Amino acid sequence: MNKVKVMTVFGTRPEAIKMAPLALELAKRPEFEAVCCVTAQHREMLDSVLDIFGLRPDYDLNVMEPRQTLSTITSKCLNGMDGVLEAAKPDLVLVHGDTSTTFAGALAAFYHKIPVGHVEAGLRTYDKWSPFPEEVNRKLVGAIADLHFCPTVSNRNNLAQENITNGVFLTGNTVIDALQTTVVKDFHFSDVNLNRLDYINQKVILVTCHRRENYGQPMTNIMTALRRVADTFPETELVYPVHLSPVVQEAAHKYLDNHPRIHLIAPLSVDEMHNLMARCHMVMTDSGGLQEEAPALGKPVLVLRRETERPEAVAAGTVRLAGVEEETIFQMAAQLLSNREEYDKMAHAANPYGDGRACCRIADAVAWHFGLRETPPEEFKG
Ligand code: UD1
Ligand code: UDP
Repeated sequence: MNKVKVMTVFGTRPEAIKMAPLALELAKRPEFEAVCCVTAQHREMLDSVLDIFGLRPDYDLNVMEPRQTLSTITSKCLNGMDGVLEAAKPDLVLVHGDTSTTFAGALAAFYHKIPVGHVEAGLRTYDKWSPFPEEVNRKLVGAIADLHFCPTVSNRNNLAQENITNGVFLTGNTVIDALQTTVVKDFHFSDVNLNRLDYINQKVILVTCHRRENYGQPMTNIMTALRRVADTFPETELVYPVHLSPVVQEAAHKYLDNHPRIHLIAPLSVDEMHNLMARCHMVMTDSGGLQEEAPALGKPVLVLRRETERPEAVAAGTVRLAGVEEETIFQMAAQLLSNREEYDKMAHAANPYGDGRACCRIADAVAWHFGLRETPPEEFKG
């Protein structure tokens, strides 16, 4: 049997977390020759994920520079992918989500006339400035891709509205596959301070914030609101693993340093992050991935953004949009911290994003597309 050569391409932390289980699933199957290319748009934050999943890339473009601009990342990835695709000649390139790596990876494959599969397809806000530049990246990739792996029904509906109906599969999100391998009962954190936190009697709030459209005033508002929360509620401990972006580092340290119950820490490895999330009281974040993970762990999430491309958990009641104004963020957090009924309404596990079998469905769909399987995979039932 001729093996189908499938190349996974990713570059940032969240892509790696969501693509690593898929790369491993492909590598396990005899019908595929799995090849992995990282752009290393992120370096330390990517390597940490590769370590946890035990994944060794075949190609590494090593493009990261401090304070890299969008044009630099995109052109370096595009140029680098040329050589990789020329050498590896894959039958299919799989990209994930909406980053600069995703867009450049898909475009490079298209230039080489190699089919593209888009993992986490169909997410939309329909506002090209939010998230910036991700909304446009994912639309462009949607236009290029031949196979579209949608986490949810509403993602598939979004594609249908754009007349993309061929090669569309409803799979669930691979992040839930990842989550099922990382969360364990008696997890021991490598940071002693995380082991020492009192997760029962104190209210540990897990915070992340990094989006480009929040740079500047929105980020100032968010940080100010977080400090007010810590000041007002002595039972809270805020744990914020700060993204390595210098812009984010500056903002976080400027507004949140020197508070006894605000812990600014280095980015956590994905297993530490998932286990911290499983133990925390609630989450405040502008991250995409956390909006999917926390509901699966039954943790209320306040989203520090004006809108979200992930409406499913809002509908399920576990996520609320808090926006980027200081007063609203503070009031919404205060409500959850002081009103047990409001908190309980949100703190129930909901899994609108997956059942842990997304990678299996995607691999099956690829096999079916290449005639290696007689039936397409069964759809994810959200
Ligand atoms: C990128 C993605 C965003 C995703 C985020 C996940 C784009 C346009 N944006 O944004 O969609 O949500 O990753 O975190 O693709 N840095 C390091 N070490 C690292 C990682 C980053 O030092 O391991 C620093 C570098 O100075 C780098 C900066 O962070 O220049 C920003 O990284 P970049 O990939 O440009 O943007 P993100 O904000 O991380
Ligand atoms: N994450 C992590 N360590 C951290 C912060 C986040 O492992 O210190 C994980 C998180 O659990 C999720 C992913 O990184 O799986 C989200 O990445 P990020 O917030 O950087 O990007 P986004 O999801 O917004 O694109």
